[in-house]
Order: sequence, then C-alpha cells, then structure tokens
Amino acid sequence: MPSCTPAARDREEALTDPGFGKHFTDHMATASWSSHRGWHDLKVGPLEGFRLHPAASVLHYAQEIFEGLKAYRHADGSIWLFRPEANAARFARSARRLALPVLDEDLFLDAVTELVRADKAWVPGHGQEHSLYIRPFMFASEPFLGVRAAMEAKFCVIASPSGAYFPEGPTGISLWVSRTLTRAAEGGTGAAKCGGNYATGLAAQAEARANGCDQVLYLDAAEHEWLEESGTMNLFIATSDGELITPALGTILEGVTRDSILKLAPEHGLTPVERRIGLAEVQERCAAGTITEIFATGTAAALTPIVSLRADGFEITVGTGNPGLHTLDLREHLLAIQYGDRPDRHGWLRRV
Ligand code: COI
Repeated sequence: MPSCTPAARDREEALTDPGFGKHFTDHMATASWSSHRGWHDLKVGPLEGFRLHPAASVLHYAQEIFEGLKAYRHADGSIWLFRPEANAARFARSARRLALPVLDEDLFLDAVTELVRADKAWVPGHGQEHSLYIRPFMFASEPFLGVRAAMEAKFCVIASPSGAYFPEGPTGISLWVSRTLTRAAEGGTGAAKCGGNYATGLAAQAEARANGCDQVLYLDAAEHEWLEESGTMNLFIATSDGELITPALGTILEGVTRDSILKLAPEHGLTPVERRIGLAEVQERCAAGTITEIFATGTAAALTPIVSLRADGFEITVGTGNPGLHTLDLREHLLAIQYGDRPDRHGWLRRV
C-alpha cells in the first residue's frame, strides 16, 4: 500500500465526502489595492488568516462582494472551469455597485486559474458529481470609520471541494414564501453579489426552517406579489404549453446557471420566457395543472427541483410532488457539459 502523509489523508477524506463549504484547499490567491497604488502584490500563497485592523470598513459598513464558480474534473483527468468569464464580468459589476475598485477581468481569471493549478490535487475525481467550489471575494480593508468608499481593499480567492449543496437536492426541496421579509428593491443591491444580500436573508431562511421548509422564496418589496428568487438560487417554472418562465432581471441575481438554462431550454423543446410572474398565477396554474414543474438554479445548488411551496394560508404541491422530466433532463444536460460527458457546443468550458 503506498504511504500517505497525514495531510494527504485528510485531503482524501475531504474528497470522499466533501459536503459543502467545510474543507479548504492548501492555497489562496491574494492581491491588495489602494487608491494611490492601484492593484499590487497579486500572488498565490499558503492559505492563512488575515491581519485586519478592527476599524477595517468591511467590519462596519459591509463593503464586500464575492463570486462562486466551480472546477470540474473530466474522465481523462483534465480540469475545467465553467463560464469563468461570466463570473469575472459580474464581479466587476458588483464592484461598481458597492463602490469597490474594479479588478481587471483578466486578473480575476488568472487568479482563479493559478489557484486551481496550485490546488489541483483538491479537485474531486470524475463520476460523483463532486467539484471544486471557488470563492473569489473582495472587501474594504481601510481602517476608517467615516462612511465613504474605502481607499484600501483586498481581493482573495479560496477554494473548497464540494458535493451537494442540498443533500436532498435531486429529490426536491420545499420553499417557504415569505409574506413579510423581502430581499431587494428597485435601485438596491439585488443584482450585485454582495455579502449584505445574504446577511439580510438569514432571518427569512430561519423563518422558512421554522415552517418546515428548506429555503425561502422572496416576493418583490413593493407589492409582495411578484416572485423574485430564493436567496441562493434563481427560479424556473415549466408550463404544460412548453414555456420555461423565469423572473425578469432587475432586483435578482444575474445567475450564470440561470443564463445557461435559458440557453439550453430550446434544446429541450422549451421556450424561455423572462417576465414578471405573480404568486396568484402560480397558485392558480399549479391547481389547474398548467404549471407542471418548478426548479431553482445556482452554482452551488446546480439545478434543484422544487416540489412544494408554502406560505401562511396555502400549500401548493408542484406537479406530482416529484421532480419533473424537464427538470431532470436539464439537470443532467448541464452536469454532463460541466463534467465533459457531453459536447460543449456553447464554448462554456475553459481548461485550467
Ligand atoms: C452560489 O451558488 O455560488 C452561491 O452564491 C450560493 C452560495 C451563497 C452558497
């Protein structure tokens, strides 16, 4: 039997049963920014803690953004990123909204690629729906208590071997429709990927759990009627007349998986439709059987079937209460592209 160091043994254990977000690779990429020097000191080094001044503005005013993307190991052992350019572009949009310095998209891609190369032993093997989840983020590090855009920031990329985000994923989850807690309003930060959006969602998530559901489904902040997203995922609704409806962009996250599913839908005989869709329509059409399937998408959660929706005063079972065929086919299609088991006709994969 080959001898194995304790570190390699820990890694093998983490790769066998990664869960989500619990294990971290050996390295991190970092860079610093200041208003007078611009970006500097971009490097990949050992994973270690930050030294942060207690007045660092991120700790007080939440000036922070992040991304999530994955590296997949193909059957021949090669490693591929899925649409990292889309994450780089969204990171730049989030930076503008949060008044953080914009990182050149090529630097973002280089940092992600170099980190995955350094930690390639941490990319799980082919065949188990495991991958390496990559988390780039940026925060305001300037020690200053006045409220203005910070003049010093840090960029960092860490990575974590990952399995299913929802252990019950492919069999379907339930969503709690919050009538009181909302996520984002017109003109707010809903489309940006910033930590604040997720912090404000924790109470809604707790409400969902307290009501026996897996996740929350947000309605719009003005009328409390229009479906938005579920906090960590975008929503899709399949109808009996062959439409695949998803809430229009504006106050929701511009999901990379959302965009990919919109592009794959026609190959499954579905017409993608981006529009406002209200809770009343969902209730009526689920009861009438003309909404047949609902699912949610995200990088971490991939494509997760939604089998029921609940709120004060109602409970809807979606379709048969089991994942529908379009949901399962689209899920299989997307994963097969990501894992290299189906041709990448859209040019979405980038070799590491
Ligand atoms: C992702 O899917 O990458 C997300 O951002 C969800 C994450 C907050 C767990």
